[in-house]
Amino acid sequence: MKEKAIDGKVIRVLQGDITEQEVDAIVNAANSKLLGGGGVDGAIHRAGGGEIMKECDLIRKEQGGCPTGQAVATTAGKLSADYVIHTAGPVWTGGDRGEDYLLGSCHRESIRIAGEKGCISMAFPGISIGAYRFPTERAAGIAIETAAEELEKSSLEEVRFVLFDSKSYDIYAQALDKLEK
Ligand code: APR
Repeated sequence: MKEKAIDGKVIRVLQGDITEQEVDAIVNAANSKLLGGGGVDGAIHRAGGGEIMKECDLIRKEQGGCPTGQAVATTAGKLSADYVIHTAGPVWTGGDRGEDYLLGSCHRESIRIAGEKGCISMAFPGISIGAYRFPTERAAGIAIETAAEELEKSSLEEVRFVLFDSKSYDIYAQALDKLEK
């Protein structure tokens, strides 16, 4: 585990399973239709139970889903968190289709919504670094820098990044080291 204090708040990077985190909100690496999938999305819906998809179905009916770079909150069902914040990360197609901006936006919007819900702590997985093939180093830099900027303005006290494998953990931990704060 690695952590850095920012104005009395903290960013943590750790290796583990996001469904097991004891935080107020966990973020799901979803798709824009909120239809579920493999990876973290599959793990969160499996562990949280059917209530989460019921709410995703409602959001899809009301607003069509969640555009790339945006985020929406649902219950966390059986998980210990109070909310799942679903964000649709960009699919990496070489970097010239606004992927960096959209990935930053996923983190900004998720942190904003967690703050609105009154959360004190939240956990992100590595958004877009799996099926969506975003280069991990680049994603880690954007994720950590955006979290540091947003944390300063937010009522949140902790933003945690939970990486499943040791290689991704090392890369996010290095990005936290590089953060100039
Ligand atoms: N906890 C933490 N991290 C996890 C977990 C877990 N339980 N399960 C998988 N991961 C890791 C993966 O190893 C990867 O490093 O999450 C990272 C993100 O991978 P994906 O889940 O593939 O997310 P993403 O690249 O954003 O792709 C999203 O995949 O599952 C579908 O519906 C989803 O279409 C969407 C797409």
